[in-house]
Amino acid sequence: MAFPTTTLGLGSYLVNGPGDCNACHNAGPGNNQFLPGGNPFFGQPKHINPATYLGGGRNFGQLGTPPSGANIISRNLTPDKTGLPSGGDTFEEFRQIMRTGVDFDHLHPTCPGVPDATCVPAPFNGNLLQVMPWPNFQNMTDNDLRAIYEYLRAIPCIEGPPAPDPLHHDCH
Ligand code: HEC
Repeated sequence: MAFPTTTLGLGSYLVNGPGDCNACHNAGPGNNQFLPGGNPFFGQPKHINPATYLGGGRNFGQLGTPPSGANIISRNLTPDKTGLPSGGDTFEEFRQIMRTGVDFDHLHPTCPGVPDATCVPAPFNGNLLQVMPWPNFQNMTDNDLRAIYEYLRAIPCIEGPPAPDPLHHDCH
C-alpha cells in the first residue's frame, strides 16, 4: 500500500529530528553516522553516511554497577527482503515495541545466576529493550508511529554483518 508523501514527511521528521534514531542506530562499532570529513562535532559540514544509516551496531556496553553481562547493541532498523522494517516487523509488532519495549528477538534474557555475555544482570529485565528510549517513545500517537514505520519501510536495506549475526538482513 502506498502512503502519501505527507506520511513519509512526518516519518522522516520524527526519525531524523526529535527521535534521533540514527544517533544510536548507525552501524557500529563506534558512532559512525557521519562520512569521513562530514562530522559536525569536528566543525565539519554534516554528511550522513548512507552505508550506516539505521543499520544498527552501535555498542552501548554492559549494564549495572559494576558493568556485567551482555553488551547492549542497537538493532538494524532497515527493511529486509520482506520489505518490512527492522527485519520484517509488522506495524502491530513495531507499535508494541515502541509502546512496551518488548524484545521479540530475546537477544539477552535476564541472567539466572552469575552474568555472562549472553544475558543482562538483574534488576534489568532481559525481556525488555535496554537503552532504547521506548519509555519516551510510548507517548507518541498511533499516527506518529505509523509515519515512522512507513518511513523505515521506504529506506534502503543494509545487509550488515554475515548471518547468524542478529544485525544481518537478507536484502534480496
Ligand atoms: C539512545 C539510543 C537509541 C535511540 C535514540 C533509539 N534507539 Fe532504538 N534501540 C536502541 C538499542 C540499544 C536497541 C537494542 C536494545 C537491546 O538490545 O536491549 C534498540 C532497539 C530498537 C528496536 C527493536 C528492533 C528489533 O529488531 O526488535 C526498534 C524497533 C527501535 N529500536 C526503533 C527505534 C526508532 C524508530 C528510533 C527513533 C524514533 C529509535 N529506535 C531510537 C537504542 C536507541
